[in-house]
Amino acid sequence: CGIVGYIGPKQAQDVLISGLSKLEYRGYDSAGVAIGDGACITVRKKAGKLANLSTELEATPLAGTLGIGHTRWATHGLPNDTNSHPHATEDGRIVIVHNGIIENYLSLKEGLIARGHGFKSETDSEVLAHLIEEAYKGDLESAVRTALSQVRGAYGIVVTHVDHREIVAARTVSPLVMGVGEGEMFLASDVPALLAYTRNMVFLHDGDMVVLNDDGFRVTDLQGNALNREIERVEWDAEAAEKGGYDTYMLKEIYEQPQALTNTLIGRLHDETGEVNLDINLDPGSFKRISIIACGTAYYAGLVGEYLIEQLARIPVEVDVASEYRYRDPLVSENTLAIVVSQSGETIDTLEALREAKKGGARTLGVINAKGSSMTRELDDTLYIHAGPEIGVASTKAYTSMVSAFLMLALWLGRARGTLSEKEGAELLHAARELPRLVEEALQPERVERIRQVAEKYHQARDYLFLGRGVNSPTAYEGALKLKEISYIHAEAYAAGEMKHGPIALIDANLPVVVVATESRLLEKTISNVQEVRARAGKVIAILSDGDTENAQHADDVIYVPRAHEMVSPVVNAIAMQLLAYFTASALGKDVDKPRNLAKSVTVE
Ligand code: G6P
Repeated sequence: CGIVGYIGPKQAQDVLISGLSKLEYRGYDSAGVAIGDGACITVRKKAGKLANLSTELEATPLAGTLGIGHTRWATHGLPNDTNSHPHATEDGRIVIVHNGIIENYLSLKEGLIARGHGFKSETDSEVLAHLIEEAYKGDLESAVRTALSQVRGAYGIVVTHVDHREIVAARTVSPLVMGVGEGEMFLASDVPALLAYTRNMVFLHDGDMVVLNDDGFRVTDLQGNALNREIERVEWDAEAAEKGGYDTYMLKEIYEQPQALTNTLIGRLHDETGEVNLDINLDPGSFKRISIIACGTAYYAGLVGEYLIEQLARIPVEVDVASEYRYRDPLVSENTLAIVVSQSGETIDTLEALREAKKGGARTLGVINAKGSSMTRELDDTLYIHAGPEIGVASTKAYTSMVSAFLMLALWLGRARGTLSEKEGAELLHAARELPRLVEEALQPERVERIRQVAEKYHQARDYLFLGRGVNSPTAYEGALKLKEISYIHAEAYAAGEMKHGPIALIDANLPVVVVATESRLLEKTISNVQEVRARAGKVIAILSDGDTENAQHADDVIYVPRAHEMVSPVVNAIAMQLLAYFTASALGKDVDKPRNLAKSVTVE
């Protein structure tokens, strides 16, 4: 979702609509504004694209110089007018917009209803308005603070109260940036929304709360302690702003992964109960086998999915590239669950394969990023990965989010089918919840710099070999694909144990071999494969878990990654693969966002 806020001398409606138009990439299920004129706050909201709302506002404008606005990507509740933001209390005196997910909203809502609050929407966000109302004793800031102390989850929230000429906002996980004008203040989810008005910005940090009025702002933490946040001058042009200040969309999207993973996982894994709630209608006992079908990077995510589901839920899984599945007269029956995996939801090969599976009587589930895409309209169930828009042609954040979605699916199936003990389930659930933090760690500047050095050392290589085992063999395949896609260096990938059956003939002093050798049950065996490469003068680039100094001696170059549970390690290890490909392509001067011959979404067969 996208958020905008304004307080100052201008008509708020114009600022909000112009800001929201720059945030539509964050979702366009509905849009809404709330505008205060001192006497009351009026909410106007409409399902569908922003144009629906702006046409109505042009015909009957709302006057007022304080306002908040929202463009929605629906998570809880259908994308209709009522579920659109802003949400107001019953008396209309407090109005909020929210981006994120309140994980414990159901229990909060029950409590609020028991205490007499009436709800209009099915959203998780509406509880925020009621919690603030309940805590309000004349001081909006402290009411917001009290309300937020009760919620768990992710939020960028912007609040206003009819009696106060101020806007209170706070963020945890979901982004918020403040624009500082002369006698006016702005807020938004992202820089492009503000560029038309100011270049003086404050990037709010996780856990920041801010109060804006006509004269300025005050930042505190959630406990109320004052914080000092610098005003930064943003010199980006509009295009750079869309890339969040990064050189390319791909790099931006690589860095967005902690956030994307949070969005994938949030609200779905419950630590206290050990429950996985995927919000799908699928009966976990209604099928005997699973076919995973996808193309490109999504196919590799499917291969990780195969491993996870077979290990944790003990259901036979096969994985096909969609273009093969479709024409190989696949064995499908009512006992089959067909899972299609797609970032765009539009890839024609995958869409046609989905139709083939349906024809055979399969139940269908999609692991999809793009809301409302063609596949989602034909699927029985969709497990959205919520990675947000991916613009770089080479997939990065969608991949790690897809893998995480498979992890949740495997956990859910394992728990439901009794193949996973409570203890194991709890351990994995915890490991999954740690992923955003681990990926954040994997993106620390020293680590990124190290990968850049390795990439630059080998960027002249003509060929590359990637090896991995078990749940990380797809990591090797995906690593090779990323490198091919954006650097045009020829790369092959093999399951490490298979190398000796052929590709070993390629090895010489000119061949860099990337080996994924992070902690696993089979690490020793992988290290034996490393020795085989070494013995033939191949150059070994080993991806090792932090602290593994012992195996470092077998490698020419080591890239350390944060230690992770083997089952979640493909997500963490993928970051190193992406960065290695990225810096290699950059060193070669390639256009990483638009590699030659490729398209983001291939809608021809
Ligand atoms: C294209 C892209 C790949 C992508 C594949 C599947 O070939 O270049 O990067 O992995 O399509 O796309 P999808 O949208 O179905 O995940």
